[in-house]
Amino acid sequence: MQNIDSYVEKNKDRFINELIELLKIPSVSADSAFKKDVLRTADEVKKSLEKAGCDHVEICETEGYPIVYGEKIIDKNLPTVLVYGHYDVQPADPIELWTSPPFEPVIKKTDLHPEGAIYARGACDDKGQMYMHVKAMEFMTSTNQLPCNVKFMIEGEEEVGSVNLAKFVKVNQEKLKNDVILISDTGMISKETPSITTGLRGLSYVEVEVTGPNRDLHSGLYGGAVANPINVLTKMIAALHDENNHITIPGFYDKVENLSDEERAQMAKAPFSLEDYKKALDIDDVYGEKGYTTNERNSIRPTLDVNGIWGGYIGEGAKTVIASKAFAKISMRLVPHQDWEEITELFKKHFESLAPKGVKVLVKPHHGGQGYVTPIDSIGYQAASKAYEETFGKTPIPQRSGGSIPIVSLFEQELKSKTILMGFGLDSDAIHSPNEHFGIWNYLKGISTIPLFYKYFTEMSK
Ligand code: BES
Ligand code: MN
Ligand code: MN
Repeated sequence: MQNIDSYVEKNKDRFINELIELLKIPSVSADSAFKKDVLRTADEVKKSLEKAGCDHVEICETEGYPIVYGEKIIDKNLPTVLVYGHYDVQPADPIELWTSPPFEPVIKKTDLHPEGAIYARGACDDKGQMYMHVKAMEFMTSTNQLPCNVKFMIEGEEEVGSVNLAKFVKVNQEKLKNDVILISDTGMISKETPSITTGLRGLSYVEVEVTGPNRDLHSGLYGGAVANPINVLTKMIAALHDENNHITIPGFYDKVENLSDEERAQMAKAPFSLEDYKKALDIDDVYGEKGYTTNERNSIRPTLDVNGIWGGYIGEGAKTVIASKAFAKISMRLVPHQDWEEITELFKKHFESLAPKGVKVLVKPHHGGQGYVTPIDSIGYQAASKAYEETFGKTPIPQRSGGSIPIVSLFEQELKSKTILMGFGLDSDAIHSPNEHFGIWNYLKGISTIPLFYKYFTEMSK
């Protein structure tokens, strides 16, 4: 494509400033206190798609936050790329751990990002990555180089489970019809080693509640004589893994796909330094399922983690009390073929069976989704690979990620098309954590790589 580099070079300050404006709006979907901001973000995304040259842009209302839809159809006989992204962000807390306020974006230089990185909630996940597509579109339309049809579908509820998007996709199959789905909401290995995400894990998220006595009790008067829900809950949680860190839920591994030795050997070729990994996290050793490497543990193997646990007295000083209730939020990351609803049922049955007499247990399923794997011999993957070769000077490595974008498997089921995950983030970008950031180098690289995907996908589809 002509002039992509010079276009990016000439416009980069504007690209950065526009993203900064978008990042200033706290579009936290999980917290209703931010409702107005989430809605305002949808309006801004709509405007940006119009400016980028979409012919038809609309705000599609749902029972929750709206979906921004835009399209430019240049020729019904040409292929259609559907771009998906999300404009909502994770909550910013714990806010005190941010070195600058989460919704007042600033550019800071780091060792990994000597060109600077934008620090703000959503910088990488996913406003920054979503906006690369808007700017890539702007480049293609303004230089008359858009080679195919484009549809954009940017949602506002990804971080809370995409429940309304799932309904929207099911009833809008014709509108969303496409030849390939393109998403930038994942990462890559490093700036030197580009990679394309070929897999995502599924998810089952549950909340558990253990109830003991009907009220909080004096821990001296009653201690030792009744079940303490917090003691019991922690014991039940501990029983969910065995000494090899295998998950103990009966049937949990039944459908897990076992990779061949060859596939595992292939995976092991990706550059990875255990020493650097430990150093970056300040841990003296890694921890996980016996028999698997770190990269396997966080991609091709299922896991179970407590995400939050509470109960009893956590205020200043000490209070002697046996709480009536204890709670935990638990996520299970799943691999392809494990069905999240089935796993949720297995968890519920097993967790209830772990409860001793003297407590009541309630398991509340939250949300979930299936895992995903995509082949590397598809036109979409090959086109993406060629695009990276051109901008990175290297063939990207296919890599399965540990994260989840549950809607991707639903796209395949309902729209019958493959998704290509062109992520430009780094694991160190601190998504979902304090001090989330996105490298300016990565942002601009994304903008210059994306149009090449369109070009090669159109050429290779002929
Ligand atoms: N963009 C992430 C998922 C992701 C990040 C995948 C990096 C691969 C690499 C997405 O916004 C996300 O956070 N997903 C949630 C699940 C969702 C149902 C809340 C997740 O993975 O925890
Ligand atoms: Mn995301
Ligand atoms: Mn996220």
